[in-house]
Amino acid sequence: MAPKCGLSASRPASQPRFIQHKKEAFWFYRFLSIIYDHVINPGHWTEDMRDDALEPADLNNRNMIVVDVGGGTGFTTLGIVKHVDAKNVTILDQSPHQLAKAKQKESLKECRIIEGDAEDLPFRTDYADRYVSAGSIEYWPDPQRGIKEAYRVLKLGGKACLIGPVYPTFWLSRFFADVWMLFPKEEEYIDWFEKAGFKDVQLKRIGPKWYRGVRRHGLIMGCSVTGVKPASGDSPLQLGPKAEDVSKPINPLTFLLRFILGTMAATYYVLVPIYMWLKDQIVPEGQPI
Ligand SMILES: C[S@@+](CC[C@H](N)C(=O)[O-])C[C@H]1O[C@@H](n2cnc3c(N)ncnc32)[C@H](O)[C@@H]1O
Repeated sequence: MAPKCGLSASRPASQPRFIQHKKEAFWFYRFLSIIYDHVINPGHWTEDMRDDALEPADLNNRNMIVVDVGGGTGFTTLGIVKHVDAKNVTILDQSPHQLAKAKQKESLKECRIIEGDAEDLPFRTDYADRYVSAGSIEYWPDPQRGIKEAYRVLKLGGKACLIGPVYPTFWLSRFFADVWMLFPKEEEYIDWFEKAGFKDVQLKRIGPKWYRGVRRHGLIMGCSVTGVKPASGDSPLQLGPKAEDVSKPINPLTFLLRFILGTMAATYYVLVPIYMWLKDQIVPEGQPI
C-alpha cells in the first residue's frame, strides 16, 4: 500500500498516506504524546480555535452525553467540559500514550477514558447527544467508515462535529501533505457526511489568527463540519468489511521506512506555523501575507 505521491493532483482518500494507518498512527503518537500539548497545539490548535470550532456543536446542556473520538490528550475535551458535565463525556482513542496524558488532567478526572478505534466504536446505536472528533480523521484509513460510525452512535436529532485538516494548494505543502496524512478537501467532508445520512451539513472554516486567513499551506485544524442525525438507527450507508487489518503481520523494514518518511513530512508542518507567525510579525497589518 505504498502511496503514489503526485505533486499536483490530490491523492484520493482511498490511497492512504504513510501515517494514515492505525499501526503507524499508534507509533507516531507513542512518541508525539510526550510533547503533543506543548508543541503541536500552540502551532496548529489554540484554545481560541478550539472554542470557535466547537461552537457549531451546540453544546447547550450540561447533561448531554458526549463522545470525543480520537480525544488524545484531552485538549478538545477541555473545551467540551466547559459546557457539559465531565461525567457525561467519554474520551476514546487508540493510543494509550495519548490517553495517559488526558488522565493526568484535573478537569477530566470524571470523564470515562477508553481505548478504541474510531472506525468501530464501542458504543451502542443511538447512544450519544453529541459526537466530537478533532484532528483524528487524518489518520483514519477509511474516513467514510468513521463518519458512518459517528452517525450510528448518535441519538435521533444528535449532532456530529468533526474538526479536521484541509488540503493545501501550494505545491510544496501539497507534496508533504500527500506523503504524511489525509488532508481532505472541504467538499469531501460534506460528501462523507451526506453519504452517511447526515442532514443540515455545515462547514465552518477555522485557523490560527496569525495565518490571517491564509489556507494555501493547508491547515491541520482547518474546518469544523457538523451534521444532524435525522432518524434513529444505523446509517443508511452500507460498507464492506474494514479496509485495514491491524492484526496482519507487516514487514518491519517497510514499516520503519514508511514511518521515517511520514515523520519527516510531518516535520514540514511543524515549520509552517513558525514561518506564518514570522510573516505575521513582519508584514504590516492589513497587507496580505
Ligand atoms: C492530532 S491528535 C488530536 C487529539 C485531540 N482530539 C486534540 O484535539 O488535541 C489525533 C488523535 O487521534 C488518535 N487516532 C488516530 N487514529 C485513530 C483511530 N483509528 N481511532 C481512535 N483514535 C485514533 C491518535 O491516537 C491521536 O491521539
